[in-house]
Amino acid sequence: MSEELHPSVAGAQPYMREERQGSGTTDEPLFESDEGRERLEKIRSRYPSARPALLPLLNYAQEKNGWVSTRAMEEIAGALDLTPACVHSVATFYTMYNKRPVGRYLIQVCTNISCHLNRGDDVLERFLEETGTRPGETSENGLFTVVEAECLGACGFATVVQINEDYVENVTPEKVPDIVDALWARAEGRDA
Ligand code: FES
Repeated sequence: MSEELHPSVAGAQPYMREERQGSGTTDEPLFESDEGRERLEKIRSRYPSARPALLPLLNYAQEKNGWVSTRAMEEIAGALDLTPACVHSVATFYTMYNKRPVGRYLIQVCTNISCHLNRGDDVLERFLEETGTRPGETSENGLFTVVEAECLGACGFATVVQINEDYVENVTPEKVPDIVDALWARAEGRDA
């Protein structure tokens, strides 16, 4: 996509990616690279003031590293001329921002009412079994973190599982091994 787009249409530029760059355990600086500075400029150019750029930059931090560290919050605060406390208060308000490292694939299993009635708890158990983890724990290979989620807003397709930014719908316990295998394959580049 052209880098010369007018700021008025820059909002259409994607800032979320299906595959995150970091492993989920790194905490790389956000704006030291050319790419990071470019993203900062692009996001910043969409808004007349600094504060509205905060959420997109928190998204970028999570996309890059898989989580948003205190250090990253301070870096964003510096870039936007906001106080670290302001950035911290916003980042901790939203549960979608991971405040601690997660695996390369963050698997969120909905167990709310529709999904609960469609074996959501069994789906969760099966993911934990297949990845050899406990809820919220990251597998030793750094690939998987499985957590229980509240309603993901796709109740007609229960059970719903969110893997990073993707939704997987109509998941049954029987489908879980194939889903985990596909993630393994993706991580190893075997699905290319
Ligand atoms: S109850 Fe699971 S998506 Fe709404």
